[in-house]
Amino acid sequence: MAAEAERATVSISITVNGVRHEAEVEPRELLVYFLRDRLALTGTHVGCDTSQCGACTIHLNGRAVKSCTVLAVQANGAKVTTIEGLAEGDALHPVQQGFYEKHGAQCGYCTPGMIMTAVHLLENNPHPTEQEIRHGLEGNLCRCTGYVNIVEAIKWAAEKMRREARGERREEEKRGEHVSR
Ligand code: FES
Ligand code: FES
Repeated sequence: MAAEAERATVSISITVNGVRHEAEVEPRELLVYFLRDRLALTGTHVGCDTSQCGACTIHLNGRAVKSCTVLAVQANGAKVTTIEGLAEGDALHPVQQGFYEKHGAQCGYCTPGMIMTAVHLLENNPHPTEQEIRHGLEGNLCRCTGYVNIVEAIKWAAEKMRREARGERREEEKRGEHVSR
């Protein structure tokens, strides 16, 4: 009886990077292993498995969360974005590009989690101070870089995202002028 209970599975449906996935999972299966082992989205890394390092950070319904702290069943019905879902075609997300431009990665193990955390940070605070960036990264550990280039990468991305937002606003204003004529 106990063994049967252990083997019991639950049906879930999760939309990951815009694609809906239906699956049967054991109630104890962690979201990070669902993403890595079942969907082969291995860009989400496991550094500690105990909620310390942030390497497993993804977006769950638009919020950055450590996917080793979430059960797959808890994500039933949710929308998940992983590092594989950030770029649009060949166009890197500004935060990905910032890490490239400012050499924000060395071994790269922490990088997907850092980027997912940073994207959420900039979505909520487009003008972060250096202190706010460092504070926002408190849940993400890097064993290589000493954080200096990671912070520079996020500053670079913030500036790019602000420029892009200004450009979009100008385009909208132009379209508005055109319509009103
Ligand atoms: S693997 Fe999730 S916080 Fe380290
Ligand atoms: S780049 Fe190696 S752990 Fe961060």
